[in-house]
Amino acid sequence: MRILSGIQPSGVLHIGNYFGMIQRAIALQAEGEAFYFIANYHALTSLRDPDSLRENSRRVAVDFLACGFDPERGALFMQSDVAQVTELTWILSTVAPMGLLERAHSYKDKLARGMPATVGLFSYPVLMAADILIYDSDIVPVGKDQKQHIEITRDLAVKMNETFGNIFKLPEPRIHAATETVPGIDGLKMSKSYGNTIDIFGDEKEMRKKVMSIVTDSEPVEAPKNHTTSTIFQLYSLFASKNEIADMRERFQKGGTGYSDFKKQLFEKLWVYFSPMRKRREEILADKLYVDSILTRGARHANEVANDVMTRVRGAVGLN
Ligand code: ADP
Ligand code: TRP
Repeated sequence: MRILSGIQPSGVLHIGNYFGMIQRAIALQAEGEAFYFIANYHALTSLRDPDSLRENSRRVAVDFLACGFDPERGALFMQSDVAQVTELTWILSTVAPMGLLERAHSYKDKLARGMPATVGLFSYPVLMAADILIYDSDIVPVGKDQKQHIEITRDLAVKMNETFGNIFKLPEPRIHAATETVPGIDGLKMSKSYGNTIDIFGDEKEMRKKVMSIVTDSEPVEAPKNHTTSTIFQLYSLFASKNEIADMRERFQKGGTGYSDFKKQLFEKLWVYFSPMRKRREEILADKLYVDSILTRGARHANEVANDVMTRVRGAVGLN
């Protein structure tokens, strides 16, 4: 079974990325062969500073390894090291109905946020479909916001299969219900583009400051508090033990504890939770050649698979 996912290097990884996608993606390595890549072609739709793109791309690779990706059980690579995906994007775009792409939420959301309407932004889901189909992927672990993109991928695969014979496998999304949407410090979806993130590998002072600035209601210390609407409680519930969660819930309901105490508890827990990963990250950074060797090996393997699939596709459509 092949498990595939990508992450854009459009900024620094945050705990929404971690609990929404990375943690699952890494756990899934136990179930099959993982192909995970840094989606630098996709990032070009929003990032036009070459130094930042290079730097972020490398940083995402380092951070992914630090979070526990096991290179012995899969391939980690840069999307642009498998240039055939752009060829497949073109082929898929010739069967992709305009209406299907016009209905994509993420395109509409991005325009609403003021991004210029480029062809690249519009056909973003076609490139994503090519990423998935070119490796005969079975399972795609992503956050809930990417679900529609996987549906578009399946639609395009079906269209290609109906038109040219059975070329593609239909991939399944794997979305973890408990962490569908991780809230940011303002209570909205945590996202690099909203400036409301808690970064996984920020330094201690920065992480503490972010946690302490989580927006709460203005209940006084002694008052009982609503845990169900609290960002602090939601974040804590992502990784604390059952007993710890029950204990915090009880203290919310009982009153007598102020939000700043709950925030301190959340910060301590977060800091300790990510500390083995921080340590691993230091080791990775200390070995100058390690990341390059993993990425080179990953790209080589991904190219082998992509070449085979593209031979099949080229033959099916008549490009051979
Ligand atoms: P961002 O919104 O910060 O730009 P990306 O779009 O790069 O994040 O997301 C990378 C992966 O992390 C995707 O699979 C996405 O679904 C997941 N993800 C991002 N933010 C969250 C969140 N707040 N909650 C759950 N999953 C998320
Ligand atoms: N669009 C995804 C995101 O923003 C990143 C991505 C690109 C991806 N290609 C992919 C995810 C293929 C899964 C499969 O998070």
